[in-house]
Amino acid sequence: MKTKLPLYFLAFALISLLLGITFGLCASLQYVFPEFLKEYIPFSKLRPFHVTSVISWIILSATGSIYFFLVYVERLKLYSDRLLKAHFWIFALTGLAIYISYLVGYTEGREYFAFGPVIMIPILLGWVLFGINYFKTLRKAVSGWPVYYWMWGTGIVFMIYHLTEAHVWVFEYFRENFIRDMSVQWKSYGSFTGSWNMLVYGISIYVMSKIKGDQKMAKSKTVFFFYFLGLTNLMFGWAHHTYFLPIQPWIRYVAYAVSMTEWIVLASIIYNWKRSLPKVKLENHPMATRFMMSADVWILLNLILAILFSIPAINFFTHGTHITVAHSMGTTIGINTTILFSALLFILGKLNPTFNTNQFSLRRGLQLFNITLFFFWCSLLTAGIKKSYWMYFSKKGLFSEMQDAMMTVYILIFVFGTGLVIALCMISFPILKEFLRKIKR
Ligand code: HEM
Repeated sequence: MKTKLPLYFLAFALISLLLGITFGLCASLQYVFPEFLKEYIPFSKLRPFHVTSVISWIILSATGSIYFFLVYVERLKLYSDRLLKAHFWIFALTGLAIYISYLVGYTEGREYFAFGPVIMIPILLGWVLFGINYFKTLRKAVSGWPVYYWMWGTGIVFMIYHLTEAHVWVFEYFRENFIRDMSVQWKSYGSFTGSWNMLVYGISIYVMSKIKGDQKMAKSKTVFFFYFLGLTNLMFGWAHHTYFLPIQPWIRYVAYAVSMTEWIVLASIIYNWKRSLPKVKLENHPMATRFMMSADVWILLNLILAILFSIPAINFFTHGTHITVAHSMGTTIGINTTILFSALLFILGKLNPTFNTNQFSLRRGLQLFNITLFFFWCSLLTAGIKKSYWMYFSKKGLFSEMQDAMMTVYILIFVFGTGLVIALCMISFPILKEFLRKIKR
């Protein structure tokens, strides 16, 4: 019997997402009512709870999908089911350890990894086990790798490297020099994102080629060009994370050119795939296709925003405002999450061909998702523009007065955020229910 552990990863991913959006909603309510739950869980705690949970959603769903594709779709014999089991339990237990670390205030880490740095050791071990299992499974079994195998393998290897790099600050040598410390830290965060993008974008190409039933697509020159562009971006495209540091301007320009081109190529791959998709194939996977097309629209919207705020004169005013938050949430929700939902729906179609992926909750959920995310994103941008205007142009009044003047925008963020939470629940619940049903059987 095939292992059910890939489904465990996917179920945990959805639970992390549901927890994450609940924390996010509470955090956005604290914009409007700063005293709300402040005594028990202030914004400074809610934020890491939210960010860690939603990043876990991305990582766990990408990992679970890759295991699922190898075992259930490609029907490969995993090198070791034991390693898979160990990987799952290490991630599940470290997830718990992170929450406890936040609860008890053991938050000596930094930024996206605010938890105690010692917890990173088992996380790294989990990735190493994943890497061994992945390469050992594929090395002999598959020759002439399609692009997605390269992307997943690269994502795993670079994830191990950059998660380690994100923690070199524990050594005195890095901490004693501010510029060295900040450069390495922010570079590693940029590349960490690049590593998970390798996993997620690889998944998008996998799902597209499987839905279309066209293996050539995953071996074409365009997708390999996209892979090398992504790799360059992963290694050198972190310059926008280090804007505030004195680095050569040309490094930023090259990094930006690469990351913008990467998005343009991905958007065109998805667009051309949809155009050439036979109707019958589309009808077999209607919702997986729609989610993938939504990702395409969100790539374009985020591209416009990124092109604008990559202009150094504009970036100076947007840094540290909600415009940055709009960029990170616009990409992680609009692009990563839609691609991952597309993958989960494709997986459900494989697991249970009678499951109705075109059901009301999923169809309406996607519509509500796109509408609310658009207005949520616009509200974040408005908050960013207003704050920037106050900081650099009007320079009038106290911080608290500026916060009061932002109240309408904060209310809008909360209202559209609530809509987004409802949409994500409408999409996640039926998928989670089906995974749990399959796990129990
Ligand atoms: C799939 C769902 C989501 C993902 C992937 C996601 C991702 C993120 C990320 C990456 C950040 C860090 C931003 C940065 O450091 O620049 C963030 C912050 C935040 N998110 Fe989300 N988010 C999601 C859903 C939500 C929802 C539904 C809400 C509210 C209803 C929300 C509210 C917030 C708030 C209030 C912050 C803190 C912003 C600040 O520092 O002022 N998020 N989110």
